[in-house]
Amino acid sequence: MHANATPRPLSIAAAGPLTGEVTVPGDKSISHRSLMFAGLAVGESRIRGLLEGEDVLATAAAMRAMGAQIERRADGEWRVAGVGVGGLLQPGTALEMGNSGTSTRLLMGLVASHAITATFTGDASLSRRPMGRVTEPLSRMGASFTASPGDRLPLTMQGLCPAVPIEYRLPVASAQVKSAVLLAGLNTPGITRVIEPVPTRDHSERMLRGFGAELTVEGEVISIRGEAELRPQDIDVPGDPSSAGFWMVAASIVPGSDVLIRNVLMNPTRTGLMTALRMMGASIEALDERDVGGETVADLRVRHAPLSAIEVPADLAPSMIDEYPVLFVAAAFARGRTVARGAHELRVKESDRIAAMAAALTLAGVSVEEHEDGLSIDGRDGEPLAGTGDGRVASLLDHRIAMSMAVAGMHSKRPVVIDDAAPIATSYPDFVTTAARLGAAPDWIDA
Ligand code: S3P
Repeated sequence: MHANATPRPLSIAAAGPLTGEVTVPGDKSISHRSLMFAGLAVGESRIRGLLEGEDVLATAAAMRAMGAQIERRADGEWRVAGVGVGGLLQPGTALEMGNSGTSTRLLMGLVASHAITATFTGDASLSRRPMGRVTEPLSRMGASFTASPGDRLPLTMQGLCPAVPIEYRLPVASAQVKSAVLLAGLNTPGITRVIEPVPTRDHSERMLRGFGAELTVEGEVISIRGEAELRPQDIDVPGDPSSAGFWMVAASIVPGSDVLIRNVLMNPTRTGLMTALRMMGASIEALDERDVGGETVADLRVRHAPLSAIEVPADLAPSMIDEYPVLFVAAAFARGRTVARGAHELRVKESDRIAAMAAALTLAGVSVEEHEDGLSIDGRDGEPLAGTGDGRVASLLDHRIAMSMAVAGMHSKRPVVIDDAAPIATSYPDFVTTAARLGAAPDWIDA
């Protein structure tokens, strides 16, 4: 995994317009859930378009370690033979989660209602992230935990079977916490309820229902009946709107660009970046909207357009939580001061993304004011960046910091240099080659 690999510095400077077509990799959230739910179904599921990034491969390895049979065929289709709800086995060794918070928190939910003991380990970034948000509700269901100080990894948990159904009101807008409780509920007798005051991505709900679980959503209340039998499914994973976001911003800021991004998931819990960019004046056309396996997807044509600063509505935060870093890059090229507040959660992602982007943009010559819950950014009204000079952007084991600053480099007179772009492989292994194909000039340089 990249955490143990040599850092791979990347340099990128303006090289003219971006043009052509791109098919982004499968959605990360749906890819994780496809492997987990198929791993609990009785029979064989088929998954096409799975994201083959390090994070999702960590989920595959963990599900295998707990008994699911998972294989990739030569044509890229994945086949998963599940163990049945309640059938997960005791893993023989620690579950290595790498950089992946989603794998960790959702799998903790699964383990919570099985009579197994599991140890979760992660890289330096994941080992700094708070796990108390899931250990707290899962403890109420009967699981017990021995965690590192601050409820962090490495952590060993012992599940309980049968677990105790709970009604849990989410104290933070988090699809991972919601999903952890619902997944624990899958093997818990009776009804487990999650109350979600602020809606977040709803992939667990949609997909669990698709797999045959009895799950209802009434207003803020999500209820799941436990001890369900899941039926195997054929899944086509739609393109990841979070990965598409890099091209949406790149094409918007680089003069002359015209890019078609194919097969992008349009689930309304994920389209916040598109909404914010359109408010800024971006030219994003959604073409050929269609239904794929219960989700709407579309092709997005994005053309360069002058952007204007906005006050980013805080209620967009859950639907663009992973896209703030690249939105900050768009803001750096807009006319006027963009203010984004109400995004505290950015402090506990793969890095502290508020501090990381403030430092990265400042190094690249952008004027930024850091707030506890966001950033204000003085845009350059279309003017290119000057580059990072003798400095290097610290990507801090955070794929989205690395990709966002690579996008910034696509409209920079002199190179933007990123100290380590290896983490990009967690979610978008082909990002750098795709950038080159669209007309950018990324360059791997010596460490
Ligand atoms: C995810 C939920 C979000 C998001 C992450 C994926 C998911 O995390 O940032 O990349 O698949 O459920 P939070 O639940 O912590 O907001």
